[in-house]
Amino acid sequence: MTEPAALDLHLAPPPGGQILHHTDRATIIWGDCRDPEVIAQVPPAYGLLCTDPPYGVAYESGFGRNFTQITGDDGTVDWPAVLAEWIGPEGTISRGSKARGLANARHVYVFGYTDEQLVEPLRLGAGIELIWDKCMTGMGDLSLPWGPGHERITFGVHIKYRSNRDRGAGQLSARLRKGSVLRYPRPNSSSALRHPNEKPVPLVADLIESSTVRGDLVVDPCAGSGSTGVAAVLSGRHCFLVEYEREFAELCVERVRAAEALAERIAAA
Ligand SMILES: C[S@@+](CC[C@H](N)C(=O)[O-])C[C@H]1O[C@@H](n2cnc3c(N)ncnc32)[C@H](O)[C@@H]1O
Repeated sequence: MTEPAALDLHLAPPPGGQILHHTDRATIIWGDCRDPEVIAQVPPAYGLLCTDPPYGVAYESGFGRNFTQITGDDGTVDWPAVLAEWIGPEGTISRGSKARGLANARHVYVFGYTDEQLVEPLRLGAGIELIWDKCMTGMGDLSLPWGPGHERITFGVHIKYRSNRDRGAGQLSARLRKGSVLRYPRPNSSSALRHPNEKPVPLVADLIESSTVRGDLVVDPCAGSGSTGVAAVLSGRHCFLVEYEREFAELCVERVRAAEALAERIAAA
């Protein structure tokens, strides 16, 4: 007797992805963010790239439930190069046209990578490292005397035109200055933690509200549980999310739908 084929829980998304949710506030695609047909669907000249790609460290967590290794976390993907595709091409002199990718002089937040890794590929005119203080110590390497209690977030201003970058464009006005340490407790209840890297919505909302205005489009090509989408919708922004794992893409839909319903109730109140 032959063994029945194992159920493939890691079904790859179809070429071009599949739109699971589309409203005037949010688009959620189950897809591979390296797929040019998926990238082509993001509206041009969007307002913010806020993302948390796999870290390339083969992180495996048993916290809360049995998560397997995060897709794309095996160190074989050049994530800064993938994000460069989401930023769009180097600027040309055709000003006024809506170029593919992030609009000129708009902001970027990337969790887990250094500004040295990101400044060139994402063409950042100015950047700074922010620290997310998780207000608790994680597991990490138990043989070391220090446990990880923070994560880095690279902030940068994307400048499309090389000549402007070379001139030092992209410096922010001092009135926008805030401290670079952001203290937000990590979601820590095993029932609330639905994804091993789930970010707290208030942390992501702080980033989004610091760098966009209401109605702007926030893009996250590695959406995970959808915290970026929830934060964007609750802040009156729009979101465009892509997630590779079907289970997590469906979780994004569930959470973003709930955020949309809440935003509508608040607007009607
Ligand atoms: C670090 S997690 C993001 C967590 C998210 N910030 C949250 O708050 O839940 C990275 C996510 O990228 C997804 N991913 C990995 N490779 C991908 C790909 N090629 N396209 C789209 N998503 C991908 C993983 O499945 C994982 O959910």
